[in-house]
Amino acid sequence: MIEFELNGEAVSSDSPPDTPLLWVIRDELGLKGTKFGCGIAMCGACTVHIDGTATRSCITLIANVAGRVVTTIEGLATDTGKALQAAWIDEQVPQCGYCQSGQIMQADSLLQKHPNPSDEQIVTAMNGNLCRCMAYTRIRKAIKTAAGGKGARS
Ligand code: FES
Ligand code: FES
Repeated sequence: MIEFELNGEAVSSDSPPDTPLLWVIRDELGLKGTKFGCGIAMCGACTVHIDGTATRSCITLIANVAGRVVTTIEGLATDTGKALQAAWIDEQVPQCGYCQSGQIMQADSLLQKHPNPSDEQIVTAMNGNLCRCMAYTRIRKAIKTAAGGKGARS
């Protein structure tokens, strides 16, 4: 039995220790906001926070989260997370929406480190989060909006 904190609550998993965290979150614990895209850390759809840092849950073994703090999009309650979700709505960022929880989790990790990121810092931080709907310009603008800026250049 592996115990950890998920969105502020103590949870446990009896999945085999080499099970990816993504499947424990979705299939065992029933939180569907975190998405499966590639399964090989190449798209960012599965991004969650572990101890506050954006992490690809598709390649994170459940054994490695024992005793740690995991946050998914359902539990993102930081000030920056709230600002990002409001900006996402204001800027009408999503198209199909599939990548968006991962995008927001990645963006929140960025704003935790850099409250007023430059365009270059945004591009670098978000580089591994793919969007097949090509919403990149709106994503960058929403991050700037959440940070209190006036919108990133496309
Ligand atoms: S599903 Fe994890 S990075 Fe693509
Ligand atoms: S909004 Fe469709 S994949 Fe990003």
